[in-house]
Amino acid sequence: MQAETLILGQVLTFAESPFDVPPDEAARHDRAGAVAVGAGRIVAVGPADRLRVAHPAARVVDHGDALILPGFVDAHAHYPQTAIIASWGKRLIDWLETYTFPEEARFADPAYARAQAETYLDLLIAHGTTSVASFCTIHPASVEALFEAAAARGMGVTAGRTCMDRNAPAPLRDTAQAAHDESAALIGRWHGRGRARYAITPRFTPTSTPAQLEALGALWAAHPDCAMQTHLSEQREEVRWVARLHPEARDYLDTYEAHGLLGPGAMFGHAIWLTERERARLAEAGASVVHCPTSNTFIGSGVFDCARAVAGGIGVGLATDTGGGSSFSMLRTMAAAYEIGQLSGAALHPAQLLWLATEGSARAMRRAAEIGTLAPGSAADLVVLDLASTPAIAQRAARAETLWESIFPTLMMGDDRAVAATWIAGRMFGR
Ligand code: GUN
Ligand code: ZN
Repeated sequence: MQAETLILGQVLTFAESPFDVPPDEAARHDRAGAVAVGAGRIVAVGPADRLRVAHPAARVVDHGDALILPGFVDAHAHYPQTAIIASWGKRLIDWLETYTFPEEARFADPAYARAQAETYLDLLIAHGTTSVASFCTIHPASVEALFEAAAARGMGVTAGRTCMDRNAPAPLRDTAQAAHDESAALIGRWHGRGRARYAITPRFTPTSTPAQLEALGALWAAHPDCAMQTHLSEQREEVRWVARLHPEARDYLDTYEAHGLLGPGAMFGHAIWLTERERARLAEAGASVVHCPTSNTFIGSGVFDCARAVAGGIGVGLATDTGGGSSFSMLRTMAAAYEIGQLSGAALHPAQLLWLATEGSARAMRRAAEIGTLAPGSAADLVVLDLASTPAIAQRAARAETLWESIFPTLMMGDDRAVAATWIAGRMFGR
């Protein structure tokens, strides 16, 4: 296929996971590289001079020395919490009651939901994030708003109506039946429409009765290619609460498994305080956990041992957890993941951080054929990083002797100023 556009820069891709093979074996780097794009998809990736010859009619967009990567994929976020990010002083349950639930109640107004969805997705694009798995609120209009705003930008978003039928304020509570029926209607309207994908979304066990978990498990069985997203073992108080609510369960994960909510495509946010049995079951079931490092420090949840999860065969995605997380930026999130890794005794390599923020998250969402890599056929979703975006980063990067040394300062110190451009389905969103 002839490309319409050639996007030039340093191009970095992964032929394999840098958790499986050494980073330099996993990565493919072209200093003068190009991504050839046609009809919103990647046609080819390779040296710029070769692709210029192969695609002589293509428009050329030259990003110079900037680094071209697959767009960042945020595997767990709450777009309705955009306006309450960076709220002070609470731990999880208190934070939900004080800040989150009152804000989520505002999404009863569809106009408010639409405004927040647009603000949120524009922030994502400014931060180089091209895809997200987001919780919405209990209001179907909050889901419609996000999918509509994503379609207007060409974005492939995974999202779902957040279901709660206990331990939440009355305006945010539904029933097992309503959760099932309204989720089913949204699946019918949105799942697979353009780039939209639906995630069945029980908030977490404390806010869903067994009847609701059961109803959503049945819905997932009827629509097995949907994702399933929820929370698991984020804070110790929460784990103890689940144990009190469910004395019959072997552990927290069991409360999901007992209702058909464990399997490939299940994404469990946080998953910090796991038992050995839970780790083994997650790996065996082909489920994924999502590392939310800025949130885990911000709300004081704990240290997630990422290297251990990967080594144990559990799929791991990376995420901001906006607005429990303190940033919209996957660069800031990679920096936090590095620091948390250091606290748990594993220095994650820059290649591993980048892989988690792209293909790792895409795999957790079962979307890796479409997003998270630069493989031909994938959507042309790219982030273009200026590796010298501030004086502090520039002076450090100037000393770099290797590719990884040139990238790591931006991972540790970069933010939206490092995002020179974001491409979504072959369309450029510049600064
Ligand atoms: N657990 C249940 N709901 C939430 C939420 O909105 N944010 C976080 N971080 N954890 C949760
Ligand atoms: Zn969350």
